[in-house]
Amino acid sequence: MTIVVAGPSKASSDIARGIAEAMGSRMVTVESKRFPDGESYVRIPEDLGGEDVIVVHTMASPQDRSVMELAMLVDAARGLGASRVIAVAPYTAYSRQDTRFLPGEPVSIAVVLKLLYASGSTGFATVEIHKEHSLRHYPGKAVNVRPYTFMARSIGLGGDILVLAPDQGALPRAEGLARSIDAEYDYLVKHRDRVTGEVVIEPKNIDVNGREVLIVDDIISTGGTIAKAAKSLLSMGAKRVNVMVAHLLGIPGSIERIASSGVERIYAAYTLPRVDDPRVSYIDVSSLIAGEVSRGFKL
Ligand code: R5P
Repeated sequence: MTIVVAGPSKASSDIARGIAEAMGSRMVTVESKRFPDGESYVRIPEDLGGEDVIVVHTMASPQDRSVMELAMLVDAARGLGASRVIAVAPYTAYSRQDTRFLPGEPVSIAVVLKLLYASGSTGFATVEIHKEHSLRHYPGKAVNVRPYTFMARSIGLGGDILVLAPDQGALPRAEGLARSIDAEYDYLVKHRDRVTGEVVIEPKNIDVNGREVLIVDDIISTGGTIAKAAKSLLSMGAKRVNVMVAHLLGIPGSIERIASSGVERIYAAYTLPRVDDPRVSYIDVSSLIAGEVSRGFKL
């Protein structure tokens, strides 16, 4: 019988509960506190002897603390005699520093994944890591859960929309979703008007005039990428622009920036603490995570 351990945050425990329900598993809530000097304390208050354990903790801000808490919970589960310990981070922090862009920089995502392995996890799962190939840094088996098709089905998106990636790198996201709902897809390219200097973002091949567009991306941080794309699309005659994102970081001002660019709705997977804003619709992806983790790790 698999046991689901919920990390010490509301988002982690909501997602863990959804995973436990979908798997028909028992959920254990951890004890946690902060020491006067700021260090975190966590404790799993139940015996896990011989069981497979899934530890769920999202790497929300403050990320360093969340990463440490997840690693400490993995070690705690090991100490309680768990058989296999699968670390599930609905959002994986540091995933964008996936290479040494400048000499002297760390590959931060590799540090995070190696820490989790060294702490005793035998598997790792996350939702839509920034670049899937980063998972090669995890020495055990790792699973990347792509949420977009599940999200589109949950909200009943049809094939009449145009799915756009905000850049060429994100094209597989848009393509995967579009194929699953039988929609057209494309990606956006940036041009600079040589006379005015103005930056225009436009689709490579497809005319957006009169179309309902869905921009798909993995992360909304400041909202700048989406806002720029939406403004350009609306100025090219798009009828409506909505956004689907795996991880809404909730940085102050980001939703406002996106909304004032003309985007009507942001559909976000629930992988991070909720932003309370009527323009954001969260989609619970815990049952999707449960299914992929069960399949991936043969639980
Ligand atoms: C970048 O490669 C990511 O996929 C996102 O497009 C980026 O993190 C979004 O950042 P922001 O919301 O600050 O434009």
